[in-house]
Amino acid sequence: MFLRALLTFFLLTEPFSSAAIKPREDAGSWMAVGPIAVEPRQEHGAVKFDDDTIYIIGGIYPETDGTFPTVTTVQKYSISTNIWTSVASLPIPLNHPNSAVINGKIYVLGSLTTVNSSTTFWNATGACFEYDPSSNTWTTIGELPEGRWTGSAAVGVSGSTVYLAGGLANTNLTDDEEGTISIFTSYNVATKHFAVLPDMPEPRDHAGVGLVDNKLYVLGGRAYGHNNTKNTVFSYDIEGNYWTTGLASMPTARGGCASGVIGTQIFIIGGEGDQDTASGVFPQNQAYDTRTNTWTEYKEMDIPRHGTAGVAVGNKVFIPGGGLHEGGLPTNYTSYFQLLHH
Ligand SMILES: *[C@@H]1O[C@H](CO)[C@@H](O)[C@H](O)[C@H]1NC(C)=O
Ligand SMILES: *[C@@H]1O[C@H](CO)[C@@H](O)[C@H](O)[C@H]1NC(C)=O
Ligand SMILES: *[C@@H]1O[C@H](CO)[C@@H](O)[C@H](O)[C@H]1NC(C)=O
Ligand SMILES: *[C@@H]1O[C@H](CO)[C@@H](O)[C@H](O)[C@H]1NC(C)=O
Ligand SMILES: *[C@@H]1O[C@H](CO)[C@@H](O)[C@H](O)[C@H]1NC(C)=O
Repeated sequence: MFLRALLTFFLLTEPFSSAAIKPREDAGSWMAVGPIAVEPRQEHGAVKFDDDTIYIIGGIYPETDGTFPTVTTVQKYSISTNIWTSVASLPIPLNHPNSAVINGKIYVLGSLTTVNSSTTFWNATGACFEYDPSSNTWTTIGELPEGRWTGSAAVGVSGSTVYLAGGLANTNLTDDEEGTISIFTSYNVATKHFAVLPDMPEPRDHAGVGLVDNKLYVLGGRAYGHNNTKNTVFSYDIEGNYWTTGLASMPTARGGCASGVIGTQIFIIGGEGDQDTASGVFPQNQAYDTRTNTWTEYKEMDIPRHGTAGVAVGNKVFIPGGGLHEGGLPTNYTSYFQLLHH
């Protein structure tokens, strides 16, 4: 009877974690590139601009007198020359900016920012900005609709529309009180139209994300605090305007992870909230195949990090900077994972 109860308990609690297929060791490798110039960085935005150029946007610098300053710094990285260059700064300091690239312009649609110069409390701002690399200028283009301000959302782009799923309305760094939300909004940069979309099935911030075959996937992340890591996979069908749950869950529940799409696979790399490592940072590098609804385990990160975005370029996912320790310790270290034989 006891055994049976135990088994039932096991069966009821286990289905949420799935096993991952281990690939051959030569399926991919990690390679370091030039470190971020100027300052180490964490909780920045990171986007692919073109096949040679990655931008990193805002974020936080290393701790000074017990605090992490939020910055306006924007830099670009050239893959071919391995050189980082500073460009025009953001109009205001931002961390966790929701960043996207459409038609040769960079967009920041909401973010977290400091309130009353506080270094221990960040609120979402709805402020939206457009960066034009040809004139090297940032322009304010309006605000997210009221009540829908967010930072650290899961961001996807389809055509000229940017999708913003969940994120944080605010966060109190002193007691890890995080205002996780499930709000889902889109913005069409061509028509300048915001749309209110159906909420995500559950609130998530610091999630992995990928847009494949006109579906937006939100993978893992967390809800209401660093240690409340999740392993769920939700997908939003853009045509049908509905969410699907119950997809194969992440082998390792993680928040603050980086992500990048190679082919039909969404790589979820690193993250924080690891109870099994002294640093609290996850080394895992696992990919969800949207075609087969399965996970594959790839080579662990060379230097485990969290609090950065992944940038997929061809068969590589670049990870610029990030945090070396749960919460803080920003680094300038930059590397990429290259998928081979896929
Ligand atoms: C990157 O960080 C390391 C370690 O803190 C430091 O020694 C190095 O000078 C930094 N590199 C750049 C380009 O800032
Ligand atoms: C910011 O300052 C305003 C005005 O003093 C105050 O009402 C508000 O509570 C402060 N916000 C935070 C997050 O401290
Ligand atoms: C920050 O967020 C809190 C909680 O949502 C809100 O009460 C407060 O008014 C916000 N402060 C500012 C300055 O936006
Ligand atoms: C953040 O949390 C601390 C500790 O619980 C609390 O004293 C402080 O008032 C909170 N800050 C805000 C802006 O809510
Ligand atoms: C998360 O869990 C670790 C290990 O139990 C603990 O040391 C840490 O304080 C927790 N972090 C937060 C923000 O609660």
